[in-house]
Amino acid sequence: MKLIDGNTIAKSIIEDLTIKVSRIKKGKPCVAFIRVGKDPASISYVRKKQKTAEAIGIDSELTILPEDISQDALFSKIDILNKDDRINGILIQAPLPDHIDETATFNRVSPDKDVDGFHTLNIGKLCQEDPSGFVACTPAGIVELIRHSKIDTEGKHVVVLGRSQIVGKPSALLMIRKELPGNATVTICHSRTQNLHKITQQADILIAAIGKAHFVTKAMITKGVSIIDVGINRIPDASKKSGFRLVGDVDFEEVSPFCEHITPVPGGVGPMTVAMLMQNTLNAFLKKHSIKM
Ligand code: GUN
Repeated sequence: MKLIDGNTIAKSIIEDLTIKVSRIKKGKPCVAFIRVGKDPASISYVRKKQKTAEAIGIDSELTILPEDISQDALFSKIDILNKDDRINGILIQAPLPDHIDETATFNRVSPDKDVDGFHTLNIGKLCQEDPSGFVACTPAGIVELIRHSKIDTEGKHVVVLGRSQIVGKPSALLMIRKELPGNATVTICHSRTQNLHKITQQADILIAAIGKAHFVTKAMITKGVSIIDVGINRIPDASKKSGFRLVGDVDFEEVSPFCEHITPVPGGVGPMTVAMLMQNTLNAFLKKHSIKM
């Protein structure tokens, strides 16, 4: 079993980005975060993204909006950031409160500043394999983990567990691209899938993105599978100061001895999401200033 060390892979990408940012002669990339409400996970993710930006030399700013913000007021804030010449990337941390239309909100962001890759135009470009668009950070991070780990995807069966807009669907689109890592045969499974274990047992590569702790068990896999565990689930743990610990969608202890490769949680996909966001922000800046690196 080979453990895929997302921390180390993300670190090397961040080092590369730090060098590139230091070579910029005029100006600095800048990413703007919007956080709505007080979700503890969102607070922690945005803090991590800001700290990483700072370490690279990318500027960031954070707008915190109240949980009961109106859709119109949220749109007005996005419009201001869209028009602000200093801002290269805009990220609205999900999940948003129930009264906010998430898709409409993501589509309010200028496609040129959509470093999250959630705008309809960028999803369309991903479908068309047009490299001028932004790819969502977690799926892009999954691809980089697979590339760095030299996991062969050509003609292989990739099973994606979960059909979310943020992870499941774009990951499947990346895996069927006519380039490597890609060229895979992809099956997307979800909550209505029948005989799920029969399908997951056929996976050469399993991407688990359903948000259910310890969902993938030994009975669902075949020896030699490579697993990318996207889940970040908080489960109670009295021995921790915080009162919880993070686990993935995979029962790591039970499943990992039978895997060719597997990502840990934490320390697998999570750090890659942040690294890809930084890469998208730098790319937005370079494109705006017509700089080639
Ligand atoms: N919430 C969970 N993952 C993400 C992400 O990649 N981007 C944003 N904006 N929100 C998220």
